[in-house]
Amino acid sequence: MKTHVANHPLITHKLTLLRDKRTDSPTFRHLTEELVMLLAYEATREIRTEQISIETPVAPMTGSQLSKPRPLVVPILRAGLGMLEGMTRLIPSAEVGFLGMVRDEKTLKASTYANRLPENLSGRQCYILDPMLATGGTLISATQYLLERGATDITIICILAAPEGVAALEKSLAGAPVTVVMGALDQKLNEHGYIVPGLGDAGDRLYGTV
Ligand code: URA
Repeated sequence: MKTHVANHPLITHKLTLLRDKRTDSPTFRHLTEELVMLLAYEATREIRTEQISIETPVAPMTGSQLSKPRPLVVPILRAGLGMLEGMTRLIPSAEVGFLGMVRDEKTLKASTYANRLPENLSGRQCYILDPMLATGGTLISATQYLLERGATDITIICILAAPEGVAALEKSLAGAPVTVVMGALDQKLNEHGYIVPGLGDAGDRLYGTV
């Protein structure tokens, strides 16, 4: 497993606005989309392409296009949905699958309540979207699920990560074809499983408390 922490002043600037507790939901959603687009730029560095011949108004040339099968983007419901728009704006031809996962606030264990994914992911490049890599439980389950279905290359995009979550992923997914791209690596998890300093509950800040 590989990890990459985005280190860019524009990302840090937008992250600071996102973290601020005074930021309202519409602004939070907008910033999340913008951050995903910036993170996706790094996360798609290894996206597969193939050569094509085209003609510009001036001369023929060999260019490149995304190759088939199309990349699969998998937002983890609910908070990952807030990252989908930014990602599909950048890769409009991507397919989208959904995984609904929730963590028990006491045990912090993840369970799946919804699943809409292709049965066979052989040879697919997959991008999992989840804003918060906290304990890592949800992302480990989701990643193992995609690997079991044949995914050959998985990139997890998260906005914030805790060192505990990164360590858990490294332990469970050692040797797997997985890369984690994160906006920032924060200090720690608190006793409630929240990232510190973090930004609070990403789902609540995106969509309110329902
Ligand atoms: N999920 C969140 O939304 N926030 C955290 O800090 C940790 C997990």
